[in-house]
Amino acid sequence: MSDFIHVFQPPAEPGGPILLVLHGTGGNEHDLVPLAEMLMPGAGVLSPRGKVLERGMPRFFRRLAEGVFDIEDLKLRTAELADFITDAAAQHHFATRDVTAVGFSNGANIAGALLLLRPDVLGAAVLFRAMVPLIPDTLPKIPSTPVLISNGKMDPLVSAEETERLGAILRSAGAEVAVAWQNSGHDLTERDVTTAREWLARRQAR
Ligand code: MLT
Repeated sequence: MSDFIHVFQPPAEPGGPILLVLHGTGGNEHDLVPLAEMLMPGAGVLSPRGKVLERGMPRFFRRLAEGVFDIEDLKLRTAELADFITDAAAQHHFATRDVTAVGFSNGANIAGALLLLRPDVLGAAVLFRAMVPLIPDTLPKIPSTPVLISNGKMDPLVSAEETERLGAILRSAGAEVAVAWQNSGHDLTERDVTTAREWLARRQAR
């Protein structure tokens, strides 16, 4: 199995949904497990720890400066994470179409990269405080892949233009994108949790 330190909790029902939770810079595999449980009680949880260290802080890929990504590293790390998801699906008997990525900040950015480079490993994504991770050489075809982007109106790291650009790129690839604006900065709020929980519940009910 592709080697990521991780937490795996099986879904309450076999064949149930799986949340792939991806932490922000300086987080670890335990951070967002309670968030996953709040978002979708009973869902399985797969939570890897990013392998890149920036001054001791785990991340999912290298950056050259704040908001300036090492694109070669991002591509490599995205491929590695995609292989980890595929291996975990085989080992724990779940289908990758049942996987919803839930990423915060750096975790949202690698989730965006998965959608653009390896959409085969995800069925949907919830991106909290996401940026445009990269522009792929060829846009993938991800028709009707549901994506929720929940960003902060006052986020000093992610501008409204950047958020709209990410939404536009994913829509051009065919994704069904919803953008939710929160009255907040870069940190997660209660409203993010409620927005995502309701969005996920609507999807499950379809
Ligand atoms: C990133 O590097 O992915 C973004 O700047 C978000 C973060 O601070 O981790």
